[in-house]
Amino acid sequence: MNTRLLRADRPADLADAAALLRNGGLVAIPTETVYGLAANALDPAAVARIFEAKGRPQDNPLIVHVAAMEDIPPLVQQVDPRFPALAAAFWPGPLTVIMKKSDRIPAVVSAGLETVAIRMPSHPTARAIIAAAGVPLAAPSANASGKPSPTCAAHVLADLDGKIDAVVEGGVSEVGVESTVITLATEPPTLLRPGGVTPEALRTLLPDLAISPAVFSALMAGERAQSPGMKYKHYAPAAAVTLVKGSFEQYKAFVLAQKTPVCAVCFRGEGAQFPLSIEYGSPDDGAAQAHDVFDALRRIDALGCKRAFVRCPDPEGVGLAVYNRLLRAAAFRVIDLRLCIPVLGLTGQTGAGKSTVAALLEARGCAVIDCDQLARTAVTLPEVQQALCAAFGDDLLTDGVLNRRLLARRAFATPEQTAALNAITHPAITRLAVEAIHAAEAAGAPAAVIDAALLFESDLTALCSRTVAVVAPEAQRLARICARDGISEADARLRMAAQPPADAYQAQADLVLENTGDLSALEAAVAAIPLP
Ligand code: TXA
Ligand code: MG
Repeated sequence: MNTRLLRADRPADLADAAALLRNGGLVAIPTETVYGLAANALDPAAVARIFEAKGRPQDNPLIVHVAAMEDIPPLVQQVDPRFPALAAAFWPGPLTVIMKKSDRIPAVVSAGLETVAIRMPSHPTARAIIAAAGVPLAAPSANASGKPSPTCAAHVLADLDGKIDAVVEGGVSEVGVESTVITLATEPPTLLRPGGVTPEALRTLLPDLAISPAVFSALMAGERAQSPGMKYKHYAPAAAVTLVKGSFEQYKAFVLAQKTPVCAVCFRGEGAQFPLSIEYGSPDDGAAQAHDVFDALRRIDALGCKRAFVRCPDPEGVGLAVYNRLLRAAAFRVIDLRLCIPVLGLTGQTGAGKSTVAALLEARGCAVIDCDQLARTAVTLPEVQQALCAAFGDDLLTDGVLNRRLLARRAFATPEQTAALNAITHPAITRLAVEAIHAAEAAGAPAAVIDAALLFESDLTALCSRTVAVVAPEAQRLARICARDGISEADARLRMAAQPPADAYQAQADLVLENTGDLSALEAAVAAIPLP
């Protein structure tokens, strides 16, 4: 399909957009929040094409956009008595209101729910197109599902060129994050997604407004999303994103200590301090952060970095919406430098004595975090299981129990499959590691130790203030593996050959411990590792 580029400043183009929409087409339109991918909300076939073009999960309902107040009553069972005051205060604008739906709303729009989300955008182009189309428009953000929302026509084309009928070029979206979503169908009314209209502003009219816990945290085991769009990972670039709390000085020291190239996503005026950086907003201006945040997330991949560290916004006012989006872009990986104890990354060749070093550090009071254990915990998390089933087949799961052998068979079949597995499990493992570090700190440990055989292949190094590798001569490792695992010398050699050579550890670790077999020498070396 050839995606037409239409222009908001040409009346004929707006008429074309409206005609395409009336005829069942998909048109991306500018709004003051983000660009929306619109279709006639009353035409189920047209709406189904939205899900297809975006690759959107079928259980995620769409917002219906209207241009006039008289469009509302036919769409709902009953206009909520609190609604007119909300509309008078915040419409047109970045507020979406959920009420019980009427039969006119097709099931595909509400994803089978009893409710419908409605918004009247303030962008003049959006309003002109809705009015000219003469029908309400269902419109999610015009990005490929999972990617950052688009705030300009170029973002839309990057994701959806060739998959939709047209995009209307109408400049950069002013607000920059999607609308605030509230539901009046619960008691008390609940904010499901923060956006341009703040909770403080809403509480002037809805004093009992609750805030859904999903705004701040991942869903718990077995929990059903009130707003299906607020799931675990969303708005994410290909690079692994981590949110970093703390002062600029702490952030700078932490980012510059990283060994591989990383992208510093920081506030205006801070970027020059880093080799690779993207700036967004400024620390005390949530509106400016919102305006820039999705473009910043999209630019990370263009820099070619595998990891990005984002300065954490204050979750106040519009900053709450920015924080909420970044949390999901980061799959809930947050490092709080204001609280954190030092973290040692511990790795080493198999048979070199990594476990001995871990035990010696534990004896010094350190909390040792075993990554094999974290990996086993990660695959019990509902959001991870959900993603694994989507990638490798629903038959992996029987009564909530994951068939790990079947998963291994499928995931290790090809390098691509293995990469897909890692993309799902690694962020969860990092998140669990962050939780374990905070728990260690709360328990009074002077330092945490992340014990990981594949430390340098994971993104756990991002959490480490120092890395330690244990290496040993080949003959010794061979003898230890045979004795420890009761396997033949040939098998032990095979296992050793699959590991990185000693110089790979020398190149990457801050400290290399040579374990020559002299335990007292090893003890002395571990005792010399500085802990605060
Ligand atoms: O600013 C915006 O709201 C943009 C522009 C284009 O208007 N639209 C937008 O749509 O962000 P979308 O589909 O990307 O996000 C809609 C959110 C999702 O989190 C969805 O789960 C939630 O609203 N939602 C829609 N209908 C709902 C309903 N009936 N009950 C609960 N959540 C609903
Ligand atoms: Mg969206």
